[in-house]
Amino acid sequence: MHFMKKYYLVAPGPTPVPYDVLLEGAKEVLHHRTPQFINLMEETMEGTKYLFQTSGQVYAFVSSGTGAMEAAVENLLSPGDRVIVVVAGKFGERWLDILKAFGMKPITLELEWGEAVSPEQIKDALEKNPDVKAVFTTHSETSTGTVIDLEGIAKVVKEAGTVLVTDAVSSLLAEPLKMDEWGVDVVVSGSQKGVMLPPGLGFIAVGSEKAWKLIEESKSPKYYFDLKAYRGKYPENPYTPAVNMVYMLKKSVEMIKEETIEKVWERHAFLGEATRRAVKSLGLELLSKRPGNVVTAVKLPPSIDGNKLTKIMRDKYGVTIAGGQAHLKGKIIRIAHLGYLSPFDTLAVFSSLELALKELGYKFELGASLKTLQEYFSENT
Ligand SMILES: Cc1ncc(COP(=O)(O)O)c(C=O)c1O
Repeated sequence: MHFMKKYYLVAPGPTPVPYDVLLEGAKEVLHHRTPQFINLMEETMEGTKYLFQTSGQVYAFVSSGTGAMEAAVENLLSPGDRVIVVVAGKFGERWLDILKAFGMKPITLELEWGEAVSPEQIKDALEKNPDVKAVFTTHSETSTGTVIDLEGIAKVVKEAGTVLVTDAVSSLLAEPLKMDEWGVDVVVSGSQKGVMLPPGLGFIAVGSEKAWKLIEESKSPKYYFDLKAYRGKYPENPYTPAVNMVYMLKKSVEMIKEETIEKVWERHAFLGEATRRAVKSLGLELLSKRPGNVVTAVKLPPSIDGNKLTKIMRDKYGVTIAGGQAHLKGKIIRIAHLGYLSPFDTLAVFSSLELALKELGYKFELGASLKTLQEYFSENT
């Protein structure tokens, strides 16, 4: 039988974009030096602070999240600076790569993929290396579906008088993050995940004077990402901004404010829990030791090829989830619960996952995960 192939995007980025947001992108392109656009930019960027829970400044680059990561490194540090970096997956490795590319001297806190660094481990590393300028972390390590105790880590970094930088590219809005209350100095993110926009904007939020002091002192080479240029021109942009993405961002911020950030966090936690239960009901295990609400990484039995599984789901049933990265390629699948998704998207994922698992010869009771999901949804409505 051939199915109507409806497109379900259930990956940890890019994520689906609501129609109301997409329509905003179809508006006329304003010139970026006009008062209309500058007002729009100001209103939008002031509103975006809510997503980071900060009164500090948020800037949007025309880049993906990695651009904002690079901006953090080159703006805060000078070549030769010593920093602590946590590496427990692909995106921790990215911090390390960028730090090395800019000539920093990173002290790596390396953990097995799937483990979460603890505040105690950070405290210990800071005590052994009191001269570090900053600590680089990944709030949600998307390659393993692991979330760290950022609040606890912020506390110990603050006590040490150091600057905390976190990659919240995938966690923003999916996991509670309160920059000002917790004392997270710098947060980077991107548009194509919890913010419910297409790819194309990289965000950096600078929440403390301590961070601005490092920015003032930084001697690293930089040009497009030079935050001093953005601060000097704000709310205008030193270069051509992504005008239509700004319309879209304004709309998504409005939608999130209307829903309230607490409810957005709750919704992600709910789908995360539903997904973890459904995975277990199929006799499968989670990869992460501290699973978060962005994405669930699922270990596959050796008899199941993850590449084939995701291909069947995508090509036969139209459901796009993610596979494993690096050494986990083919060995895990990653099911997102990120952004503009409802319980019925999760049902579509598990329905197609069960069909694909059956096709590949995995033994389980057909419908087991769907029953688990339906029961969980019904208990909570
Ligand atoms: C935690 C994390 N950091 C960084 C990135 C890189 O973002 P981008 O692909 O937008 O450059 C991603 C993307 O998946 C991510 O999940």
